[in-house]
Amino acid sequence: MTITPSAAAILELACRMPKAELHVHIEGTLEPELAFALARRNGLILPYADEAALKAAYAFDSLQSFLDLYYACADVLRSEADFRDLMLAYLERAAADQVVHSEIFFDPQTHTARGIPFLTVLDGLTEGLRQGKARWGISGRLILCFLRHLSEEEAFATLAEAEPYLDRIDGFGLDSSEKGNPPSKFARLFARCHELGKPVVAHAGEEGPPAYISEALDLLGSARIDHGVRALEDDAVVARLVREGIALTVCPLSNIRLCVFKTMADHTLGKLLARGVKVTLNSDDPAYFGGYLNDNIRAVQAAFRFDAATWYRLAHNSFTASFATDAEKAGWIARLDAHFAAVGEVVPGPI
Ligand code: ADE
Ligand code: ZN
Repeated sequence: MTITPSAAAILELACRMPKAELHVHIEGTLEPELAFALARRNGLILPYADEAALKAAYAFDSLQSFLDLYYACADVLRSEADFRDLMLAYLERAAADQVVHSEIFFDPQTHTARGIPFLTVLDGLTEGLRQGKARWGISGRLILCFLRHLSEEEAFATLAEAEPYLDRIDGFGLDSSEKGNPPSKFARLFARCHELGKPVVAHAGEEGPPAYISEALDLLGSARIDHGVRALEDDAVVARLVREGIALTVCPLSNIRLCVFKTMADHTLGKLLARGVKVTLNSDDPAYFGGYLNDNIRAVQAAFRFDAATWYRLAHNSFTASFATDAEKAGWIARLDAHFAAVGEVVPGPI
């Protein structure tokens, strides 16, 4: 007799499964409580009366409306200890969601433009990663993102600042305002990143057209596509993602909060999975968008009612699409298999 697990049991299985997060901006994990605490620590006054007033401002109608607030709030981050504490707060929450590995974006230009030294940012974040690993066993990597609303020349200056510390930087990315800032603007920069031997990723097809996904692959050599949810508008782009096994780092709650889709039921992630695209789930800017990875899982499950095999696939994708070593991936996948086996779920064959 086959027992079909209940919807509640599947949700529990998905929330408790070990997984990787491949798309989270550390500045986007700044909770209002921490923002106010850091403002006090640094003698700053936020232009909001209290945490509730700040939270009330989280009503976005586009990516840009969010970015304006996100960059303004980042102003409370001043010292190495601030960046360390921000990282620790995120890692604690991620570990509670059974995230065993996270590839974390940071935006140095947001900070250096305010006079914060590059090394203050990097030292704080790497110290947070070190302590987080010691406390919760979570593995973390840093991906340096360039802000695409700025020039390629400014991005080259940031890359020059980063070059002495490449042992602490695991990849390069491209984020910020997508519309009007196509990947092609940064082709020379990313060629240099490849010369430095680092993997690169790029946000594309979040608000921008599917052609930006093709550009990110062709002109930047992007190993994954961050978001990519508009791929579905172009069959040729979908076919290419499947053929080349390119992972999308999809952020469901983000896409709803930034009005990319009206409701979760309208989200393209179910159709992308059904077409064979290597989808992963992520939280993007969890402090601003209503939650961390398991909150995204709960929202997705409420809308799509995926079966256990689909959740297994999503977690498996998160590991295989990561920049971890083959040995690390094999270890995490063995834990994933054991998690499913422990509740009597048969792991789907090789993927
Ligand atoms: N920076 C932080 N979150 C972002 C997003 N969702 N898209 C582009 N840039 C970002
Ligand atoms: Zn993002």
